[in-house]
Amino acid sequence: MRIPENEVTDERVYLQRRRLIAGLSALPALGLSGCAEADPPAPPGPVISAAEAASGFKTDEPLTRYEDVTGYNNFYEFGTGKGDPSKAARTLRTSPWTVAVGGECARPGKLSLDDLLKGLTPEERIYRLRCVEGWSMVIPWLGVPLADVLKRFEPNSDAKYVAFTTLADREQMPGIRYRSIDWPYREGLRIDEAMHPLTLLATGLYGKALPQQNGAPLRLVVPWKYGFKSIKSIVAITFVKHRPHCSWNDLQPSEYGFFSNVNPDVDHPRWSQKTERRIAGSGSQLFAERIPTRLFNGYAEQVGDMYAGMNLRRWF
Ligand code: MTE
Repeated sequence: MRIPENEVTDERVYLQRRRLIAGLSALPALGLSGCAEADPPAPPGPVISAAEAASGFKTDEPLTRYEDVTGYNNFYEFGTGKGDPSKAARTLRTSPWTVAVGGECARPGKLSLDDLLKGLTPEERIYRLRCVEGWSMVIPWLGVPLADVLKRFEPNSDAKYVAFTTLADREQMPGIRYRSIDWPYREGLRIDEAMHPLTLLATGLYGKALPQQNGAPLRLVVPWKYGFKSIKSIVAITFVKHRPHCSWNDLQPSEYGFFSNVNPDVDHPRWSQKTERRIAGSGSQLFAERIPTRLFNGYAEQVGDMYAGMNLRRWF
């Protein structure tokens, strides 16, 4: 499903709605009714609670504009230019869609997207997305915790890792003609990373269904890792004993590690990882200021324990 531009919630409207909801919920506590004076000028970022900030589920940093989130993409199945996916991915048929879940688990199966997500309500998560190329965005996703989906298949004790596969269909994906990657695009996580509460299976963004160029109908979002771990348009999820194949790691293991945790102290041979260009521009400007990159993309408090004692330079 492609969402026409005019149906998309304008970022300002979206932020105002969030503020209104946050403000309304505060009224009874203040002993006030809805009849208040005009709002003060809106602050730049979304309003979030202290609990949301502590969980890492939301950030109050300014959101990247919808048009940039959906117009500046990496999805090599549809071309290698940043503007290619938003044009070429219109041919991706996202319904019907099935996902095969199997490997080291008690209840493997091939399920329709509806059955896979049955009974789970998409939550909003506002995450930073940091690409290894040195740019970053702040995106309001909709999705379900990956753990909630994985548990349904009852992984066994040999399920040490989880492997993910993207659709690879020559007819729908013009980029597959080029052997830039050994298709299908593959990614993987350690089981504890996959089960971490921050790890999201996204089905939407900005309160709407996920556009094709962002990985419709189902993509991974792992906010403390470089963006290439967040695999798009998933058709298979497999519990495995050993470290699974990962497309970029297979292509150039000296440049792209299996873990690929965001780390300003470990540079990529072509890109310093110390800083990043935040895509949060206004008007015709795409990039905002260059800002320092943080360990685990600013999620160290939530995920640091999983890597305690690990040499992050060796296991990059
Ligand atoms: N998934 C697939 N199947 N193919 C891709 O080329 N690119 C990755 C990741 N997932 C990619 C993919 C990279 S490099 C990044 S930075 C993010 O998707 C970009 O996600 P976005 O376009 O939604 O910002």
